Amino acid sequence: MTHMDDRTLTSSGFYVSQEAPIHTDDPIPTPSAPAPDILRCAALDLVVTDLAASREFYVDVLGLHVTEEDDDAIYLRTTEEFIHHNLVLRRGPMAAVAAFSYRVRSPEDLDRAVAFYTELGCRVERRAEGFTKGLGDSVRVEDPLGFPYEFFFEAEHVERLSWRYDVHCPGELVRLDHFNQVTPDVPRAVRHYQDLGFRVTEDIQDEGGTVYAAWMRRKPTVHDTAATGGDGPRMHHVAFATHEKHNILAICDRLGALRRSDAIERGPGRHGVSNAFYLYLRDPDGHRVEIYTQDYYTGDPDNPVVTWDVHDNQRRDWWGNPVVPSWYTDASRVLDLDGEPQPLVARTEASEMAVTIGADGFSYTRPEEESMPAWKQGEYKLGNQL
Ligand SMILES: [Fe+2]
Repeated sequence: MTHMDDRTLTSSGFYVSQEAPIHTDDPIPTPSAPAPDILRCAALDLVVTDLAASREFYVDVLGLHVTEEDDDAIYLRTTEEFIHHNLVLRRGPMAAVAAFSYRVRSPEDLDRAVAFYTELGCRVERRAEGFTKGLGDSVRVEDPLGFPYEFFFEAEHVERLSWRYDVHCPGELVRLDHFNQVTPDVPRAVRHYQDLGFRVTEDIQDEGGTVYAAWMRRKPTVHDTAATGGDGPRMHHVAFATHEKHNILAICDRLGALRRSDAIERGPGRHGVSNAFYLYLRDPDGHRVEIYTQDYYTGDPDNPVVTWDVHDNQRRDWWGNPVVPSWYTDASRVLDLDGEPQPLVARTEASEMAVTIGADGFSYTRPEEESMPAWKQGEYKLGNQL
């Protein structure tokens, strides 16, 4: 939790403080070995059960570019990418995440990754030829929270397609922006990822200090990954950036025209957290994909950390639109290095859904909100769910 004395209330209605506002009583030990210098989230290795259906969704509907493909895997990239891929769709028996892949600054950072995770007692594998087409020497680990992480530096370069407007679509996806990981103990996860060099940019807490989610970055945006409180390890979503809000609206229009509106889970809308414009989709296996644009620069060392009240019903949607229950409950399993699903650990602290969604399925601010007239108390916005 953040010490209240260290917070400043902004005119926007949330709090700001300086770095490291979250504390844990149950930390993962900090290795004496230095952490690898992580540049950015770079790729997701995703297992899908129907490769043709996934290709249709990610290539034909969303417009990701195929770098290479065979009968078992498709390697996709965004428009601005110059390395081999940002997303691997890999045919498998169970929909799951095989690896969250991060690019490091130098080959020596792979030695650092091996030493860092070996000291933590984690399972570590290194392959000079890489685990994935297009990537060289790589390290894969099962991290202390149970997530499969991959680190690489060497990567095959491909053409950056930014200038190829002839192959762009109205909803063009230009970068891999972030991952979002579900984990039971958010402060414990934050502390560990801070040891790995991540910095917190925003979080959601309640008045008692329970932390429901936290956003952490290496590159100077709001995040490369977020920790969302829940039964884990699971992946909540992977997010791709597009240039502008109208690109997101174009994706919605396209899905409507294709009679695929069922793929839209939540949005479009404006986040409170991150200030980004968003849309959440579900792929043919149920993996959640966010389309995201226009968050803000966070690269200065004294970048203010934003803390939201879990009962602020503009935190997840700045316009106050409700969060659908599936967005809180559903997430993708993750695999160990043998390809088996990692066991889940239950969250023991309060869930964000339990404290913010009423019996009618709509979110509310606070059940005891006294500033609201009696006819509106317990409701989220005007109107009731039918
Ligand atoms: Fe996100």
